Amino acid sequence: MKKKLSVNGVQHTVDVDPSTPLLWVLREQLALTGTKFGCGIAQCGACTVMIDGVPIRSCVLPLASLEGRQVMTIEGLAPSDEKLHPLQQAWIEHQVPQCGYCQSGQLMSAAALLARNPEPTDAEIDGAMQGNICRCGMYGRIRKAIKSAATSRIAQSELHTFDKTDEASDE
Ligand code: FES
Ligand code: FES
Repeated sequence: MKKKLSVNGVQHTVDVDPSTPLLWVLREQLALTGTKFGCGIAQCGACTVMIDGVPIRSCVLPLASLEGRQVMTIEGLAPSDEKLHPLQQAWIEHQVPQCGYCQSGQLMSAAALLARNPEPTDAEIDGAMQGNICRCGMYGRIRKAIKSAATSRIAQSELHTFDKTDEASDE
């Protein structure tokens, strides 16, 4: 069955069973392989994307639930090819990625957090990120990088671009 799907600001038409999880539509139909498969049961966070500005586990989200909604994946996080999102910049500065497998999910959860809370406390960061597991144990660096992005003046101006999406969310 043909379904329309908006991903990173681009409208796609995909021809798959509407019960197919978004993760597999992204990876197999749209070749957006930055979003990873970990557990498949909404427990690890590797597959996190943003739907209308809210972090969601794409491994358990059926395509049928996405009509009229805006999906953002890691491929759409940077504002342009020349410019990284402030979180991506901070990730590099703090050398967050090790094996890298969990990182796109971590970044999408962090981006959603800063969009709704530009200056989170350590406790708020830990609360927002607790569903994203890192088997390499980079939790300390992740927290530092989020704080760093949040306090940079560049970050403030970039993050505000997410405000409208965040307000439009109903979750
Ligand atoms: S693969 Fe979706 S939460 Fe683990
Ligand atoms: S960097 Fe290896 S799982 Fe997180």
